[in-house]
Parts: sequence; C-alpha cells; structure tokens
Amino acid sequence: MNNEAIESAYALLRTSVMTYRGEPVGTVAAVAPADAVAVNYHDCFIRDFIPSALVFLADGEYAIVRNFLTTVLGLRSQHLPIHGHGLEPAVMPASFRVTCDADGSERLRADFGDHAIGRVAPVDAMMWWVILLAVYCRASGDRALAADDTVRHAVRGILELSLREGFEVFPTLLVPDGSFMIDRRMGVHGHPLEIQALFYGLLVSVMDLLRDSGDDQPLLKMAGKRANMLRNYLQMFYWLDLDRLNEIHRYETEEFGETSVNMLNVHPQSIPEWIVDWLPERGGYLVGNLGPGRMDFRFFAFGNLLAILFGITSQQESQRIMALYHDRWDDLIGRMPAKLVYPAVAGKEWMFLTGSDPKNVPWSYHNGGNWPVLLWPLVGAALKTGRGDLAQLALDVADHALPGHSWPEYYDGRRGNLLGRRAQLNQVWSAAGYLFGHKLADDPGLLNLLGSIDPSPQRPAARPSAS
Ligand code: GLC
Repeated sequence: MNNEAIESAYALLRTSVMTYRGEPVGTVAAVAPADAVAVNYHDCFIRDFIPSALVFLADGEYAIVRNFLTTVLGLRSQHLPIHGHGLEPAVMPASFRVTCDADGSERLRADFGDHAIGRVAPVDAMMWWVILLAVYCRASGDRALAADDTVRHAVRGILELSLREGFEVFPTLLVPDGSFMIDRRMGVHGHPLEIQALFYGLLVSVMDLLRDSGDDQPLLKMAGKRANMLRNYLQMFYWLDLDRLNEIHRYETEEFGETSVNMLNVHPQSIPEWIVDWLPERGGYLVGNLGPGRMDFRFFAFGNLLAILFGITSQQESQRIMALYHDRWDDLIGRMPAKLVYPAVAGKEWMFLTGSDPKNVPWSYHNGGNWPVLLWPLVGAALKTGRGDLAQLALDVADHALPGHSWPEYYDGRRGNLLGRRAQLNQVWSAAGYLFGHKLADDPGLLNLLGSIDPSPQRPAARPSAS
C-alpha cells in the first residue's frame, strides 16, 4: 500500500465535501478552480457520491451520508413537469449544487437532466439512492431513517415507478440512451446491462428496507418476483461464453411463436469479428444490451462487476468473468484499472452510435477509456470470487500512477496509458474509488455492506434450446 497516495486521496475527499447551511451534504464531482472545471463538476452527482459514501460509512462517518439521503429526497419537489407531462414524484436528480443569494443565504438547486448537456434523464439516480439507503442502514444500524414515513413513501414510489407496466415484454427495464454513468449518446439505449444490474440492486434493497412493513407485503412480493425473473433472464439471455457464442453462430432466424429459440431474432451475421478470438475458453460475461435483433457484444465493466457484487451471476459465472479479466488483463485493466467498455467503436459505427461525439472518440472517455472509479467494484468483485490476487494486482497498478497524475477522471488509449485528453483532475470519485478499493482489500468483510438478499435460491430454468 502506498501511504502517500492514501493520504492524498483522503485530502481530496475532505476538500470535496459540500456543505449546506453548515451541514455536510455531499461531495463535489471535481475539485478545481472555476475556470478549470466543466460547468457542472462543482455539483454533487448522485452516482459520484456513492464511492465517497462507501468510504464515509466504512469510517463510521454516518452523518454526511444521512444528510445526503434526506437532502436529495427533499430536492424532488424541484422537479417540474415537462409541458404536457404529469409530475413524477419518484424521480431523483442527477446532481445538485448550493447557490448563494445576494443576502448570503444558501439554496439548493437540482438538475433532473433539464440542465445537463444533452438533456439526459438520470434513471440510475433513484436506483442508487435506494441502494445507498439500504447500505447506510446496514452500516450505521440506523433503521429509523428507513422507517420514516417520507422515506418509506419515496421508496414505495420508486418501486412503483420502476415496476409500472410500460411497453415491455421482458423483465428488464427500458431506458433512453445515456441514462446512467455513460451519460451521453453511446448506443446504450434500450436495456443496458448497468441499468439492469442497478434495477436488481434496487429490488433487493427495497426487499430489505420494507421487510418489516406489514402494509407493504404485496409490493414486496412483486419486487421479489421481478428480481427473480430479472436475474434468471440476465443469466439466460445476457450470458455469453464460447458455448453460447457457438449457439448464436448457428441460430435459426425468423422463428415465430412460443417454441422459438432465437426469440429476439438475433442474426448470426451480427456477431462482430473481434469477439471470436477474444473470448477465452474459460471466460464469459454478460453482454452489454439486448433488444429485438440486437445483441450488443461489448463488454461493459460496471454492469458485469455490479452483477457479481449484487449476486446476479451464479458463483461459476462470476468466476468466469474474473477469468476473463485475468486472461484479457491488458485489454480490460492495462495501465490503469479499469476499461469502461471494450472494445471502442470506430469509423462509421462511432459516427452513428455517438453522433460523431469528439469526446467519445475511440479509446477515450466513455468509448473505451479507463476509469479509476471502477477500482472499487473491481476489487470487490475479485474478492467476492476468491480472486484476491487480481484485486491486489489492480491496486498495485493504480498505486503507481494515480496520485502522481492528480486523480484524473479517466485515461485514454487501448491500454489506458494516456491521461484522458479532456479528463478533469482531482476527480473525487477516482480518489474515493481508490480508497474504498483499498479498504475492501484490507477488510473484505465490508462487502457485506452491499447486502446479500437472494429473492429465490432456485436456479434458473433451462434456456430454450433447438435440440
Ligand atoms: C461524466 C460521467 C458521469 C459523471 C459526471 C460527473 O458526465 O459520464 O458518469 O457522473 O461526469 O463526474
């Protein structure tokens, strides 16, 4: 362990704390002078606060996390309906900031995606809020917060909103492009893995939070059923290994009705060339997205790691994901843990998928950049699968580069060996992710904070098969 690095990360985390009327309520996304930081990086983002919160909770600093949870909850009243839409009280903001009036009084201003570049709706925010609430209760033992009427009401509202019938035929959740950590156009609309993993995390967190509430038993039953179906569906249809690739390679298409095997009509011709030689015999992972005639074969790290941490993948599958990390270390870890998405899209595909976004050029930012914040889920997933060796290797790689580079937001290049061209420095979740990664390695018992509710111990039914 590099003590100087730990100290530097703590120093950054401490200076990032945002206060409102004298109380700590969150951490800003990046610490930098106003002219050196992107317009909204002085905001506290819900998703960016998660690794900060995990560090605070591990250190027994519960107040800031509690304040954050209640503050964000209060912000929902600022959500104005779009003309012609109804007010949706369950939605949570992407970020918020403290502003100062002329008389010096402070106010909070939330962004529900109505200010964000590209106007993206943060679907992940309400999920992270519930997941963090459950983690907070476990860590602090303060179940009174979850029992509070307003909080319960909010949890129910979020659950009802995400279980509401839409135009779905599958247990997965349909969302627009860029509605989570990848918050700009990247061809991640539809059923992206990260949202599905968070949806599962939300469902099992609600089951934990409302378990003692007599009135909520019907809602809890629905949550349990959906969680179970979602997990089975992800295991059956998102899972990819060489056997499965062989099946897809020989898929029949244009099948109709109940007995069809290739239900989504995925054309074998859509299998990208890179995957055939890249996928090792013993490795496997959950694909990035699934829809009609569409399997996004890209490897999205956060979704896969969260799937391991939340218990979506079976033990064997989790181990195979870590085996993929081992066998494709240079591609998925390289010089800075860890690659967000592998591989990058280039050429016409980049033009069509990203709308020619110059920030997301191949092997940069969301399009194949390496993000230090992924250290914590990577270390957590490695420890959970008995691969402490990989966790240590990843931390060693980060120890050597991160502090000297002033905690950048992301790295560029196939191997992540260039500091991201437009990366913010002193990016707080890079430091917090590093700190929590180290904390997990020192005390794997902290994994219990993430909970381990199993909606059903049964194994999934067999995948429809041609034979
Ligand atoms: C970028 C990231 C997003 C993050 C934000 C603030 O927009 O894509 O996930 O929340 O920066 O750090």
